[in-house]
Amino acid sequence: MSHGDQIIKLPDGFEVYAKTENCPIAAYGNEEYKLYGVQFHPEVTNTPKGNIILENFVFKIAKCKKEWKLKDWITQSINDIKKIIGAEDKVVLGLSGGVDSAVAAVLLHEAIGERLHSIFVNNGLLRKNEEIQVQKTFKENLKFKNFHYIDAKDLFLERLKGVEDPEEKRRIIGYAFIEIFEKKTIELERKFSNMKYLAQGTIYPDRVETSATSHASVKIKSHHNLTLPDNMKLKLIEPLKELYKDEVRKIGIKLGLPKKLINRHPFPGPGLAVRCIGPINKERLEMLRKADQILIEEIKNANMYDKLWQAFVVFLPFKTVGVMGDYRTYEYACAIRAVESQDAMTATFAKLDWKLLEKISTRIINEVKGINRVVYDISNKPPSTIEYE
Ligand code: XMP
Repeated sequence: MSHGDQIIKLPDGFEVYAKTENCPIAAYGNEEYKLYGVQFHPEVTNTPKGNIILENFVFKIAKCKKEWKLKDWITQSINDIKKIIGAEDKVVLGLSGGVDSAVAAVLLHEAIGERLHSIFVNNGLLRKNEEIQVQKTFKENLKFKNFHYIDAKDLFLERLKGVEDPEEKRRIIGYAFIEIFEKKTIELERKFSNMKYLAQGTIYPDRVETSATSHASVKIKSHHNLTLPDNMKLKLIEPLKELYKDEVRKIGIKLGLPKKLINRHPFPGPGLAVRCIGPINKERLEMLRKADQILIEEIKNANMYDKLWQAFVVFLPFKTVGVMGDYRTYEYACAIRAVESQDAMTATFAKLDWKLLEKISTRIINEVKGINRVVYDISNKPPSTIEYE
């Protein structure tokens, strides 16, 4: 329930349907006009029967019909892409390793084949072995011919040196990415010509959430075509923009993407930068990567991975005292974040088994040099967020 605002007086002809102790008008409507309003969020999982409210509205009041079939959607979408993109036109797309851009890439690949140029930038903020897995999937398994890998680890780390502010980190990462991406696009234009479109894996919630979140990835999108010459401004194509995440996943599977990639937990665009609190450097990232790999390994072994929305490690930039053998240690801490959620709008911390947590903590402290303390995050969203920065 949103308590920031209150309805004081209803328009003529409207009735109150529900109230709470603090909110005298929590749901209201007018049967004749078929207009209804609620002050709470029927769409979030914490609202019991929220889906029934939505179902009643969509099917009984608005009289919509269930005509949406994913199978038709793929064929239709491939046809649409073929119609929009001219026979000589080429498309560039930034692959992030995440589900959305991967599915957008495969869909476009089905439609236009090697006229799709995928660019994968290693920003040095990826999870362990991610760059190897992404290349293997697209180049070897899916036979993408025009897959371009760019190793820009040093450039990103150099620009992030000493930066602590999360929004500043996002801004730097976003701009560096665009710069590299566009430089590559210019190079590809010289070599292949007719680079006309920029494809993005934007999905429906990205568009809905644009105003509701502060994620700079969204802001960055509006700055696209930043360094491209005027005669090369790219047109945007977003084949997944009407879909929800679960639909994107189903389409990905139908298009032959490996389940492992499709069911991967979401990962923020700015990567480990927003999970490495404070200034970033190679050593800290390496500790974080190792700890995160251990966490994921153990969560998978315990068959918990698919039950969680996200599970990851956060590097905490302060030192505390510990003891190892006969020695006193003074090293960094890290936090484990594991949450259950349907849509990331709300989330509850996962009540992981103590034994599992103990195993993870022991392994991290034993195997990751530089970390001597692991804490478990027991905050829900709201009021906390899933990520730390
Ligand atoms: P929060 O932290 O706001 O995260 O509860 C909600 C979901 O969004 C992901 N997230 C991001 N994704 N760029 C992204 O592409 C970002 O800057 C970013 N920040 C958070 C987060 O992982 C979670 O699934």
